[in-house]
Amino acid sequence: MRNRRAALTAIAGAASLALALTACGQSGNGGSKDKGGDAKGGTIGIAMPTKSSERWINDGNNVVKDLEAKGYKTKLVYGEDNPDTQVSQIENLITQGVKGLVIAAIDNKSLNNVLQEAADANIPVIAYDRLILGTKNVDYYASFDNEKVGVLQGTYIVQKLGLDKGKKGPFNIELFAGSNDDNNTKYFFNGAMSVLQPYIDKKQLVVKSGQTALNKVTTLRWDGATAQKRMEDILTSSYQSGKVDAVLSPYDGISIGVIAALKSDGYGSKGQPLPVITGQDAELASVKSIIAGEQTQTVYKDLRKLADVAATMMDDALKGKKPQVNDTKTYDNGSKVVPAYLLQPVSVDKSNYEDVLVKGGYYTDAELK
Ligand code: GAL
Repeated sequence: MRNRRAALTAIAGAASLALALTACGQSGNGGSKDKGGDAKGGTIGIAMPTKSSERWINDGNNVVKDLEAKGYKTKLVYGEDNPDTQVSQIENLITQGVKGLVIAAIDNKSLNNVLQEAADANIPVIAYDRLILGTKNVDYYASFDNEKVGVLQGTYIVQKLGLDKGKKGPFNIELFAGSNDDNNTKYFFNGAMSVLQPYIDKKQLVVKSGQTALNKVTTLRWDGATAQKRMEDILTSSYQSGKVDAVLSPYDGISIGVIAALKSDGYGSKGQPLPVITGQDAELASVKSIIAGEQTQTVYKDLRKLADVAATMMDDALKGKKPQVNDTKTYDNGSKVVPAYLLQPVSVDKSNYEDVLVKGGYYTDAELK
């Protein structure tokens, strides 16, 4: 029998896309379930990183729902941000005979051995939102334009401070990045810095902590408490005088930690407004924070569309059809360029959340109350 992987590789090519992006909502029936009628297509294993963040719960539920609608059974597991747990979960899924794997990696480099097992069993693998590195055994990548996420965050800061309209500053900014084992981290950071660096060079933006290199500003596992601690340390060491005007935060959970540190230092009360603070994922708590005037911005990524892309890719791959991709150059994982379908992120703040998130059916007004 011809190796399915060889067939998949052979059909992986660029194609423009008119995916039928169905509104599939965020609620579903997740959990480690095995259901879905007679499920002619077999069972697909879905490995998500953590339930500690609302987005991944929604992602899991959405992918389950979309695959079940296409006639598959699903097994959904969460690795609770422990790379070893995720590896053994994926091993179990392979042993249980899944026909395909959708994986949002915890540690992008820890999956090489287990993905060799998947390849040996002819199981197609889709990297979900986060690229898996260092192995040829990843067939497709479903994500967003990750560099653009960072560009949107950096641009927001520049515009909100008025630097693009002739304000000279100098303004003080502190920089936060995501987990160093997540491939997305450098795309977000580099995207943001492509906008911010020219202002740092001109000293219109000043990083008083001096922490500007990516390896100085990462936040292991995107943990809000870790970010809170770092922000507290920076306030103590570098802001005995002067104030923070902006914080580049790559993710809503980090923004929440940063805001907590700032508030306990007196920001957000009279005379000392909170700085401009970015974010990502449009998580419910952060959209409420934006409405309340604390976090300033987030980057919305429609997870319903991402799940639909991943489920459609898997269905096509299993049926020997060419999955639709729109990027065949950007995502080199060290072993190969992984064909990707990238969705577009959208900057959201107080001025447009109603239009984008409520009219777009992502949240109801009642949820945001
Ligand atoms: C990234 C993802 C972001 C955010 C972050 C923390 O990989 O692209 O949207 O969710 O993880 O969970």
